[in-house]
Amino acid sequence: MALEPEKLVCDFTGGAVGHRFRHGGGRGQALPKAVGMKGGKTPDIVDATAGLGRDAFLLASLGAKVTLIERSEKMHQLLHEGMERAIAESSEFAEIIARMTLLLGDARDLLPDLAPQVVLIDPMHPPRKNSALVKKEMRLIRQIVGADEDSVELMKVALATASNRVVLKWPQRAEPMEGIKAPSHQITGKSTRYDVFIT
Ligand SMILES: C[S@@+](CC[C@H](N)C(=O)[O-])C[C@H]1O[C@@H](n2cnc3c(N)ncnc32)[C@H](O)[C@@H]1O
Repeated sequence: MALEPEKLVCDFTGGAVGHRFRHGGGRGQALPKAVGMKGGKTPDIVDATAGLGRDAFLLASLGAKVTLIERSEKMHQLLHEGMERAIAESSEFAEIIARMTLLLGDARDLLPDLAPQVVLIDPMHPPRKNSALVKKEMRLIRQIVGADEDSVELMKVALATASNRVVLKWPQRAEPMEGIKAPSHQITGKSTRYDVFIT
């Protein structure tokens, strides 16, 4: 099947993201738990691999201030457009987007100056054996950004700069990322898991 990257859109208000916003499980979901949003705590978060901003939007919708870093100009542009559309949609969405700050650049360069509390890292995951299982949207993103071969290096910078924790989103059954210390604990979601490294 031919893939058409121009069909990729960043939609915070409709589709799966909008659905999760309206019907999601609040702070009890795996991602908010992994970044430490429990007991009323709301850390500032740097999402070092922003992508289509779905994770960042979820965290911002739960009250966190999130700095999003994206190095692909194309993905950054899609994100920017999605944020503008959400602001125009309603004051409820505008309030959430106001907690999101979008930066263009490589997180390995930007993290040291940001002095983050919590860093979330969700690199392009290793290809699964059955590529039909990989969602079309993810295949389109891969076509634009490639394979994120340097994610071990990004993890190392994150571990050296985060004052509280680094959270690595990784396929549930994948081997731990090579060359990185063992996580402090893991939180398992539906198809992904979160490896949490307390720093
Ligand atoms: C799997 S996607 C992230 C999806 C995102 N978590 C979401 O909820 O939509 C990975 C993204 O991280 C970006 N990325 C990977 N390494 C990066 C780095 N070192 N600095 C900035 N962006 C990076 C890629 O360009 C890609 O857009």
